[in-house]
Amino acid sequence: MKVLVTGGAGYIGTHLCVELLENGYEIVVIDNFSTSTLEGLRRVREITGKSFHVYYVNLLDKKNLKKVFSLHQIDSVIHLAGYKSVRESTSDPMKYYRNNIEGTMTLCEVMQEFNVTSLVFSSSATVYAPVEKYEAISEKHPLGPTNPYGHTKRLIEEMLRDIFDSNTDWCIRILRYFNPVGAHKSGLIGENPKGIPANLFPYLSKVVVGKLPALFIYGDDYPTPDGTGIRDYIHVTDLAKGHLYALHNLSSSSGVNVYNLGTGKGYSVFEMLREFESVTGKIIPYLIAPRRKGDVAFSFADVSKAKEELGWEATRGIDSMCHDAWKWQRNNPNGYELTRIKPLKKEVMSYDWL
Ligand code: UFG
Repeated sequence: MKVLVTGGAGYIGTHLCVELLENGYEIVVIDNFSTSTLEGLRRVREITGKSFHVYYVNLLDKKNLKKVFSLHQIDSVIHLAGYKSVRESTSDPMKYYRNNIEGTMTLCEVMQEFNVTSLVFSSSATVYAPVEKYEAISEKHPLGPTNPYGHTKRLIEEMLRDIFDSNTDWCIRILRYFNPVGAHKSGLIGENPKGIPANLFPYLSKVVVGKLPALFIYGDDYPTPDGTGIRDYIHVTDLAKGHLYALHNLSSSSGVNVYNLGTGKGYSVFEMLREFESVTGKIIPYLIAPRRKGDVAFSFADVSKAKEELGWEATRGIDSMCHDAWKWQRNNPNGYELTRIKPLKKEVMSYDWL
């Protein structure tokens, strides 16, 4: 089976490509490399020993997207491409609406034109309205994102439902990620944020290796046992595997099905900090800072639907999340930075040599 992965060069994309290749799928990757590098994909090749096609294509560029579909007989698409910074989305919402929504529209138009109607879409737990009570969030929880990034994910979910209503051949699985963290066990691929990381794990990793002086804990006065925010962290390899289960499930029925991908367990910032300290053997300096705007006290998934219908569940605990994040950071203190390969041209470009 040939799977097109949009945004395959990114953090989740590279881990997904490894899982797909190791499970016998042929893959074609497209990416605009705006927040990723070719080096991550070169390392996917190194881990798996398998070759694949990579195209430098922007999803808004319909002409070149069609070229990719005419060059390959695609069976299914896993659509990860999109901007994902909550902070940036509040300062430049139009960039998010244009890229995430129009990009997905263009992709779906081209898919329909080429009779490819199997799609796994990467959504986010950020589509849910903030929880009031300390309880797991099921797929039935009311929606109500609180930032433009979340709005784009919600709108895309709605758009996909409308597309299915217009043509019931479509088989669509929507995956709502909780907090993906960690790295591949090889330490070769991992999260590679530009500049100062906004998220807890990459920030903690940089403090541990001495690239940043201390962690700022955003609020210790939340209504949680230790006062810090609680999240459902999921190892990126477990998350990547979840996509393969969703892909497999596409053949069971047409329609639009939504699944949470998380572990079902919540951990506080302090708990993660202590776990990082125990895995690395280092003391992590921290300061208590005011709450970050838009943060909620707790968020963790009800994962029973994915378990029952997809047969998938996360198996890696916070120890392996911290261990693998640390291994990646220690082996690559500058991420992919030193080995960055820049695409040279703006039109469709194939990196078949991979
Ligand atoms: N935190 C800190 N200090 C930091 C960074 C984070 O204390 O430097 C805290 C936050 O306040 C929060 C927790 O660590 O309590 C996790 O924060 P992250 O930024 O790692 O993750 P978020 O839950 O805020 O957001 C993530 C993704 C979003 C996605 C959301 C889905 O970044 O893209 O999960 O629930 F939408």
